[in-house]
Amino acid sequence: MSITTIVGGQWGDEGKGKIIDHLAESASVIARYSGGNNAGHTIENEHGKFALHLVPCGISWPNTKNIIGSGTVIDPNVLIEEIEIINKSKLPGTIYISEKAHIIMPYHVILDELEEKFRGKNAVGTTGRGIGPAYSDKISRSGIRMVELLSPDSMIEKTLKNLKIKNEIIQKIYDGKKINEKEIINTIHIWAKNLSSYISNTEEIINKSINNKENIILEGAQGALLDIDHGTYPYVTSSNSIAGGSLTGLGIGSKDISNVYGVFKAFTTRVGEGPFPTEIFGKDADNIRKIAGEFGATTGRPRRIGWFDAVAAKYSAQINGLDSIILTKLDILDHWDEIKICVSYELNGKKLSNFPTDEKILNKVHPIYENIEGWEESTFNLDSFEKINENAKKFLNRLEEILELPINVISTGPKRESTIIRQKL
Ligand code: IMP
Repeated sequence: MSITTIVGGQWGDEGKGKIIDHLAESASVIARYSGGNNAGHTIENEHGKFALHLVPCGISWPNTKNIIGSGTVIDPNVLIEEIEIINKSKLPGTIYISEKAHIIMPYHVILDELEEKFRGKNAVGTTGRGIGPAYSDKISRSGIRMVELLSPDSMIEKTLKNLKIKNEIIQKIYDGKKINEKEIINTIHIWAKNLSSYISNTEEIINKSINNKENIILEGAQGALLDIDHGTYPYVTSSNSIAGGSLTGLGIGSKDISNVYGVFKAFTTRVGEGPFPTEIFGKDADNIRKIAGEFGATTGRPRRIGWFDAVAAKYSAQINGLDSIILTKLDILDHWDEIKICVSYELNGKKLSNFPTDEKILNKVHPIYENIEGWEESTFNLDSFEKINENAKKFLNRLEEILELPINVISTGPKRESTIIRQKL
């Protein structure tokens, strides 16, 4: 039995979906603990290629329970569409939605857009999916939870009360367009009809599996550097994406967690605004973006590109309590004759080894790189460590040395089988 948290180690998009799809073969529960449909987890297996936004990535395996936990925020329209695709494609896992997960209401999506516009040059670069406003309402205790869909009349009453205030804000502060009451009432009925049968007491399901000593995967979304408390605030998402979020986001105890694995790309990407010390521009960035297909799975936005940042990665290992590393997209570096790893920062002639909290400092630091000779040989689709070129092994060994953590899994392509498992999880 093991309970393993899979967490993004960087700014999201590390390839968690593919890894979880691979590891879920031996799991009975896969439980997502934070975020909403700002995430885009791509999986590619014998059933086809899917970009999952809310449903956990164990869904392709039979006998898996796929839980959308209390720490998530759910846009029911998106979830209904996702479930429809899953059912049509006959993906065999089952889906359970926490009664306690908060709902992204239509006014949250509109407010996300209006607030971003209002921030002007200080915009966060959100995905525009209503994530921040939904979490804000949760914390200010005016949110609406999935359990409400089981009694639509009382949900409508609460929603209309909220809508009065939201419409005032939309119209009077942001000069936006009022949301129609009738439309929202109809929408609630559609949501209730389509989703009620999935709404469950998911804490009971997961804790039963823990007591039965089953294998469980806790699925992170986004990445540690986007965490609301520990990320590059304010350029972060609105939930606890670090491993700690799995406890509150699923209602389980810390003593139950066996392992925490951090997923990192062999380089770094970031979407939206905010500091990014190892960011690169021009031809090199364009090439990596093109070869790696670095465009948002949710928004289609081109991702910002940079070299591997070991200062940020060490910080991430610390705040997540990582046991080991899962390294993805190694094959993308096949094309470079020299690979860079940022080992420290420099500011005003001083060396910084720690990841600064202050956005102003992080914006100014210069990365100090260690150069590793490239391997210029394909690692694409390799499934055994022995087959990897010696220089690529040197790169992996050096990362392990710097991060003081083993790299247990290496991903060499988007398909499930393009995975090197060095140590069984
Ligand atoms: P929000 O989560 O839509 O509020 O966006 C806040 C910040 O997090 C923005 O910079 C987004 O680009 C970023 N973000 C949110 N979700 C993801 C993700 O799944 N991958 C990468 N970046 C994300």
